[in-house]
Amino acid sequence: MSAPQVHILPAAADAVPLLLDEIRRTIAGTRLPLLGFATGGTYTAMLVALGAELAAGRLDPKAFVATHLDEYLGFAPDRRGGMVHELCEACPPLRDMLSRGTFLPVPHDGSDDGLRAHAARLQRAGGVQLQFLGIGRNGHLAFNEPGTPFESGFHVTRLAETTREDARRRFAPEEPPHEAATSGIDTILQARRLVLCAFGANKAAAVRAMLQGPETTTCPASVLRRHAEVLVLLDRAAAAGLEAGAAAP
Ligand code: PGA
Repeated sequence: MSAPQVHILPAAADAVPLLLDEIRRTIAGTRLPLLGFATGGTYTAMLVALGAELAAGRLDPKAFVATHLDEYLGFAPDRRGGMVHELCEACPPLRDMLSRGTFLPVPHDGSDDGLRAHAARLQRAGGVQLQFLGIGRNGHLAFNEPGTPFESGFHVTRLAETTREDARRRFAPEEPPHEAATSGIDTILQARRLVLCAFGANKAAAVRAMLQGPETTTCPASVLRRHAEVLVLLDRAAAAGLEAGAAAP
């Protein structure tokens, strides 16, 4: 097993061309790859840039299939605040892919049957080739909050209070939701390649726990060290807690 590759960038914006290159390489290497997108402020710039590439014909929206990590319960694709809505707003070509059936959304009703069928669709699409990930300041991956077993598949979860707090602005003046459907940790580990981005000082402690703390469900992202192909892109603020030269145990 190889340790995650970690790149510390001068600024978050420097990640965008690297992330687009990841997409290009995946499309070049696999016929109709399934790309797993992540939501949250970390990925907005990349999604906007991807939308521009697709709209200008520099990338072909028919050359890949899209999916994503998680959805708030009860948030249909056209409901503001939801993850699919966010993805389509930032990257409008994803909306066309949703209508064509080449963007596979996480079912917002969270039913067992729906989640099982979604996981089966991802398998039929060849499995996720490239999965983008963010990290919560509590170390969550997707909505796998601290304590989630590493063996988990798609499931419905209650959101941690820090997660709801971080989502408060997104839902104001409404209260942030309490529940979401999320891909599990095992689901995430099954992707062929993982690319995790973390930017800003409020991620520094989680980044340190992910890369240099014990592998424990208390920091779900620490499980990434089990995966053979992980790239971590940080800005200097998010990397500030790392011990120089210290490799993950
Ligand atoms: P953010 O969220 O990109 O909005 O920081 C990431 C996450 O909570 O996983």
